[in-house]
Amino acid sequence: MAQKPKKKSASAKRIVAVRPEPKQFSVADLVRELNSFNVDNYWDLGRFLVDKVMPVARKQGMFEDQVLKMVSSHPGIKFPFSMLKQCQQYYSYYPDAKKRPLPEVFYFDLATKVDESKRRDHYEKMAVDYHWTISDLRKKIHDDDVARRIDERTKYGFDLRDRNVWTFETPDPRFGKPNYKGRIPGQIIANVLYYYSKPGDYIVDPFAGSGTVGDIIDTLPHFQDRKYKLYDTNPIDERVARNNILLTGIPEQSNSVDYIFLDPPTEFTQRDTSTDFEVSVDAAKADFALKFKGMIRECGRILKSGGRVSIVIESAFAISEFIDFPYEITQLFKELGFKQIGKVYLPRRSGELMTRGTQGISEMRGIRMLSSDCRELLTFQKQ
Ligand SMILES: C[S@@+](CC[C@H](N)C(=O)[O-])C[C@H]1O[C@@H](n2cnc3c(N)ncnc32)[C@H](O)[C@@H]1O
Repeated sequence: MAQKPKKKSASAKRIVAVRPEPKQFSVADLVRELNSFNVDNYWDLGRFLVDKVMPVARKQGMFEDQVLKMVSSHPGIKFPFSMLKQCQQYYSYYPDAKKRPLPEVFYFDLATKVDESKRRDHYEKMAVDYHWTISDLRKKIHDDDVARRIDERTKYGFDLRDRNVWTFETPDPRFGKPNYKGRIPGQIIANVLYYYSKPGDYIVDPFAGSGTVGDIIDTLPHFQDRKYKLYDTNPIDERVARNNILLTGIPEQSNSVDYIFLDPPTEFTQRDTSTDFEVSVDAAKADFALKFKGMIRECGRILKSGGRVSIVIESAFAISEFIDFPYEITQLFKELGFKQIGKVYLPRRSGELMTRGTQGISEMRGIRMLSSDCRELLTFQKQ
């Protein structure tokens, strides 16, 4: 992006003055017209789009973005969609940019980087009062955005994520029991409940372990209107009911649950490769399918229609063959009438990697095996 839009030359002024008003769209004509603008003539380009092109587009029943996309995907156009959009935005917000006290580039940045008009006015006043350079303005907008994102992330009482890779170096000590084997960092569950459950939901955790799901709902005001039920073969406290999902399923009524969180033990997928020489990969897969099909059927039975289930799972070597368990489980869910609605990557924390040990390159029957350091959190919806 150019630092300072150049002053319009006399010849550019003449070109703008004689530009014909499009009556209806020929994309090729429009592209020719647009290409005659200088690449840094943002304001004039914006004015042409807003005053001349958009009224015709609206008459033809087209949306503004639709026109910009159509034009920008035409061969030979020299402006990408994002640039056309920025010029349109610039002129819409500042049709009087040339009469305002700051250089035009300030208004271009304000129009394209700041959504609320009050904030734009505030920055303009500060820039005038304190004689800001364009770098001062950009730094201030950037710093304020970072501060707002941090505020947003912590306003619910936990570290809210907005991307699909969730790593939390230290498990939040408020949730779960510190030395419980397989305890998941509470921040993962807080995020999962934020994205996949809703106020008033009835939530079930059949592998409750150290009670992390219960702790989140009991502790964080944001989730206080969710109700929950926890199960495990080894209940850790009175909130957890004893149950073996493989023997008795999930003891809940049919069509009664809104959301299920499944964090099965690693033994459900990973086998001791040293003792499994005689078991075929097919047998390992069949064993996996048997266990998980039963579990998924149970989820389908107890979930209300539209209810959701998330599962934490990772790929592994069974015997000497790689099995993509996240893929296999996705297939099973789909076979049993679920639709996938989410996928998040959960890389292991460096602390966890240390305890898992560095085993060097493992090799079995001539196959080099890469161990997994990243779990996946898959979410499905009952149709
Ligand atoms: C990975 S841990 C869950 C950890 C839990 N999410 C937490 O944050 O503490 C798996 C749990 O499943 C339980 N479990 C193992 N087999 C089970 C079964 N057949 N039915 C129910 N729970 C089982 C284990 O006792 C263990 O607590």
